[in-house]
Amino acid sequence: MLEVKDIRASYGRIEVLRGMTLRVPKSHVVAMLGGNGAGKSTTMKCIVGLVSIQSGSVELNGERIEHLPPHRRAQLGIAMSPQHRELFPEMTVKETLEISAISKKLTKSERVLLEDRILSHFPRLRERYEQQAGTLSGGEQQMLATARALMLQPSVLLLDEPTAGLAPVMAREVMAIIKELKAENLTIFIVEQNVRVALQVADYVYIGRQGAIVAEGEVSMFSDEDTVFRQYFGAA
Ligand SMILES: Nc1ncnc2c1ncn2[C@@H]1O[C@H](COP(=O)(O)OP(=O)(O)OP(=O)(O)O)[C@@H](O)[C@H]1O
Ligand SMILES: [Mg+2]
Repeated sequence: MLEVKDIRASYGRIEVLRGMTLRVPKSHVVAMLGGNGAGKSTTMKCIVGLVSIQSGSVELNGERIEHLPPHRRAQLGIAMSPQHRELFPEMTVKETLEISAISKKLTKSERVLLEDRILSHFPRLRERYEQQAGTLSGGEQQMLATARALMLQPSVLLLDEPTAGLAPVMAREVMAIIKELKAENLTIFIVEQNVRVALQVADYVYIGRQGAIVAEGEVSMFSDEDTVFRQYFGAA
């Protein structure tokens, strides 16, 4: 179980998270929806340790982790696929996956097995195994960022807008992969602006606005997408 409790975070003098609170129970998929600037990516960065918090706590299975550096949190099993993917364009699919697993100290045969299991979810990446990341399509890059995070064998996978900027066909493919991971009981925290995507995969939904949660509930509470939009995003 991952818990974010009443965290505050700022960039310079501007406070961006103002008491953000949420929980991701084991083997659940939890989504946070919110418009541009709601603080979704910042929340994820506070969870992985890329942004430090001024108050509140981040807890993994009841242990406070907000004082730990990012690599220690990764060792504890928190892995993120960042919004802008942050791949090394010159590295091939193969190299990207290999490097990700380095900290795991696996034997070669363990790594190959793990990679094979992960690539079974990503046939497109298997076909492009020797291709450089920078030459992959947007959707393929998204898949690679997710596969790279999975190489850490995470106990919690964080996905920052996995379908942003993808054509509908590719977005559906990425969604199908998330559903496969869900079926394997992986614990997933996903942030999205795309309500339909979030409602399809999540068990529980939070709506964030201006650095705090303004609504939350079981996914069934949010079955009417249009209402969600009107109420919380201010869109027609
Ligand atoms: N490095 C930074 N320096 C200063 N301000 C920042 C920085 N990163 C984010 N912000 C500001 O913090 C606020 C929240 O940003 P954040 O990226 O968390 O939002 P988001 O909900 O992920 O938005 P989006 O849907 O556009 O990705 C925004 O107003 C943004 O301008
Ligand atoms: Mg963001």
